[in-house]
Amino acid sequence: MSLNASFAPAPAGALHVPDLESIEPGLDLVAEIQRLRSARKAVILAHYYQEPEIQDLADFVGDSLQLSQQAAKTDAEVIAFCGVHFMAETAKILSPSKKVVIPDMDAGCSLADRCPTDQFAEWLKQYPDHEVVSYINCSAGVKALSTVICTSSNAVRVVNSIAPEKQIVFAPDRHLGKWVMKQTGRDMVLWPGFCIVHEQFTAKRIAALKAKHPEAKLIAHPECDATVSQMADFVGSTAALLNFVAKDAATSFIVATEAGILHQMRQRRPGAELIPAPADSGCNCSLCPYMKLNNLEKLYLALRDLQPEIRLDEDTRLRALLPVERMLALG
Ligand code: 13P
Ligand code: SF4
Repeated sequence: MSLNASFAPAPAGALHVPDLESIEPGLDLVAEIQRLRSARKAVILAHYYQEPEIQDLADFVGDSLQLSQQAAKTDAEVIAFCGVHFMAETAKILSPSKKVVIPDMDAGCSLADRCPTDQFAEWLKQYPDHEVVSYINCSAGVKALSTVICTSSNAVRVVNSIAPEKQIVFAPDRHLGKWVMKQTGRDMVLWPGFCIVHEQFTAKRIAALKAKHPEAKLIAHPECDATVSQMADFVGSTAALLNFVAKDAATSFIVATEAGILHQMRQRRPGAELIPAPADSGCNCSLCPYMKLNNLEKLYLALRDLQPEIRLDEDTRLRALLPVERMLALG
C-alpha cells in the first residue's frame, strides 16, 4: 500500500454548529463561564496553544501529557476541554463517566486526521510482529490498534521501554519519529504524517533569523523537520520548552512551535526577548488553525448546553485505554 500526505482529512467529530446567535449581546462571557463552571461542577482544561483569554480562565493549562494526567484524576463532573479533538477524546477514554465537551467539534489535528483508522489497520498488516507506538495525536481508533501511546514529552522514554529485540512501528508523526530514532538509536518504521504548523518552519528561514539575533537560543518542538531540530539548542514538548525558557540564563529565544505558547513564556520570563520562528511562506501558519477554532463564545456555549460532547463506543474506548494506561504508568 502506498502512502502520501494527501489523505482526505477525516472529520474530527460529529457535526455540531455552535449557536453563536443565541448568545445575548453584551453578555459578560468571562463571568458567565465562571458561573457555569461551578454550577456544572466542571473543570476547564486548556492546551498551551489556546488563545490567551482561554488559558487565563482555565483551571489547568498544560501540554498533552499533563492534560491527560489531569483528565485521569479530576473529580469534576464535566470536563470542558479547550484543545483539539484527540485531546478531548483521550480525556473521555480515561474518564468515561464524565461528560467531556469541546468548544468546537471541528478542532481536529492534521496528524490525527491524516491517519484514518481503516488505512492504518491495513498498513499495519505489513508489520505483524512489530510493537506499535502511537503519538497521542491520533484518533481513539488508532490508539486501539497500538501497543502503547506516547506524547512529545515522553516519546523517548516510551520507546526505550520496549525490549531491544522488538521491532517498532511509530505513528503518525514522521518528524517526531525521526527525532526519537536519533535519541534512542532504535530503528523504527514511520507512518508518513506531519503537522501542518511545524512543517512550515524551515532551516533556511530560521538560519536567517539566527543571523539577525546571534545571541538568541533556538528552541524547537520535535514535530519540526530534522533540519530545524538539528540547529536547535533545545528540543522538547511545549511544557519542556516553557520550562527551558523559565530556567535558562539566556535572555533571547527563537521559539519554533505554535505561537500560543508565548503567552505562558511571557509570564514566566517577562524581561526575555521571545521571537516566534517564522513560517516559510510568510503567512500566519505558525498558529494552529484547529486550536484557534475554540474561543470564549464557544466555551460559554459548551458549558451552557453541555455540547458538543465527545462520545465513544465502549469497545473502542476499552481497547484504546490499555495503551494510554501503559503510557501513564511510565510517567
Ligand atoms: P505537546 O505534546 O507539546 O502538548 O504537543 C501537542 C501538539 O499538538 C503539538 O503540536
Ligand atoms: Fe495538530 Fe499541529 Fe495543531 Fe498540534 S499544532 S494540534 S500537531 S495540527
